[in-house]
Parts: sequence; structure tokens; C-alpha cells
Amino acid sequence: MRFENKRVFVTGAASGIGAATVELLRAEGARVFGVDVSDAPGIHFCDVTDGATITAAMEQAVSEMGGLDVLVNVAGVNWFSKVEDITLDLWQKHLDVNLTGPMLVTQAAIPHLRASKGNIVTVASISGIQGQPYNSSYCASKAGLLLFMKAIAVELAVDGIRVNCVCPGGVDTAMSTNALSNIKGEIDFGHFPKMMGVLPGMMPPVKIAEAIAFLASDAASSTTGASLVVDNGTLWQ
Ligand SMILES: NC(=O)c1ccc[n+]([C@@H]2O[C@H](COP(=O)([O-])OP(=O)(O)OC[C@H]3O[C@@H](n4cnc5c(N)ncnc54)[C@H](O)[C@@H]3O)[C@@H](O)[C@H]2O)c1
Repeated sequence: MRFENKRVFVTGAASGIGAATVELLRAEGARVFGVDVSDAPGIHFCDVTDGATITAAMEQAVSEMGGLDVLVNVAGVNWFSKVEDITLDLWQKHLDVNLTGPMLVTQAAIPHLRASKGNIVTVASISGIQGQPYNSSYCASKAGLLLFMKAIAVELAVDGIRVNCVCPGGVDTAMSTNALSNIKGEIDFGHFPKMMGVLPGMMPPVKIAEAIAFLASDAASSTTGASLVVDNGTLWQ
């Protein structure tokens, strides 16, 4: 029960990694306020690209839970595209949800985390470290997210707020199932083995939830500014 009496805000909580995180943290004693743009039982509406809905959701969360100890930024989008087919709309959507979104939600959480000396865990991706074919918009958004989080880890250390990232490889969720559906025309699958791990298969979302839980817990009280890679050994090749 690592999260007894801890108050947690999770974005992207309706499915995949976010839903697994809500379930794991609740099982370990946390009070969790989950938000998403998609409907799911017990999940509140919040669009991480929209400041007004973030403010409303954060106020409701803090009021219901009596404060905030942990922010988990999970919400994200991913559509593969050949570089010459990237529309401004596709590019902007990746930056809005994957980069601007966590920045806005983090801003809303900071006053409450200052009060509790809490921490932030953000789901970035190995796509923010490794160049991936047909995925340059997503890679750019996640690389920006990693450096944003590293920068504020330094800035917020004086407030006693820790800031860390988890960088997953391939996880078995709706996102990874749907990401390739956007590509037009022929693609060279010869590139894709470099995106697979030395351990077989896609990871279940709970493997990422476990890494999030470690970084959010007191066991990681000496860890800030870290990017914990959980990727079945994809980058280690
Ligand atoms: N699945 C993978 O292989 C993989 C790998 C590395 C990183 N990630 C990252 O993990 C995170 C979770 O992805 P997932 O795989 O669980 O996918 P998912 O599609 O199951 O979950 C993403 C959730 O984010 C929500 N969301 C999208 N836009 C939103 C918005 N504007 N405001 C609020 N919520 C929004 C979606 O409704 C969805 O419930 C993402 O940040 C993703 O980039 C996933």
C-alpha cells in the first residue's frame, strides 16, 4: 500500500496506460481523480489542450480529495505519417496534446504540489529518444516533452517537487493498434524491426503503470529529472 492517503490526478485515464495506472494506484491505497476526453466509468471530462477544462477539473479534484500529491500526465495521441504527408493539422495535434497539454496540466498542479511537496510523473516515449520512421511528428512532441520535464525538474527542486518521465516502448493499447492506420501508400516495413525489443511482444499497460508507481512513490524520493525506459530492451540494441 505505497499510496495510502495519497491524492493523485491522472490524465488519459479512460484507457490503456492511464486506466492501468488508475487501477494500480487505487489498489495501493490512493485516491485518484482520473480525467480524459473519452467517456469511461468514474472518469471526469478534461481536454488537456483546453485551459478552462483543466482549471475546472483540477479545482474539482483538489476540492474532492483535499489536495494533491501526485500528477500523472498520460494523455497522448499518435498517428504515423510519411514526412511529406504531414499536414499542419496533424503536426499541431501532436504538439497540442503531447507537449502543450502536459505543460498546461502541470501549471495547474504546481501550487497544490508545492503545498504537499508532491511529484509529477509524465509518460513520454522511447520515440522522444530514438528516431522512428513515419513517426516524426510524435517523435518531435515526445522529445520536447522530455526536455520540458527535465528543465522543470531542476526549476521545481527548490520547492521539493520531483519530476520524472517514463519512456515506454511498444505497449498493447488502442494507440499502438491504430497509429499505423493513418499512413498513405506503400511503406518499408524493413525499418520496423528496429522498433521492437529483445524481449518478445508488446507490453501490457500495467508494466508502464508499475514504473509510474515506482517513480511516484517514496521509494524514488532521491530520483528527479529521470527518464525511466521500459521498452522490452528496444533501445539497448
Ligand atoms: N502504446 C504505446 O506503445 C506507447 C508507447 C510509448 C508511449 N506511449 C504513451 O502512453 C500514453 C498513453 O497512451 P496509451 O498507449 O495508453 O493509448 P490510449 O489511446 O489507450 O490512451 C490515451 C488516452 O489519452 C486520451 N486523450 C487523447 N487526447 C486527449 C486530450 N486532449 N485530453 C485528455 N485526454 C486525451 C485518449 O482519449 C485516451 O484515453 C500516451 O502519452 C502515449 O504517447 C504509448
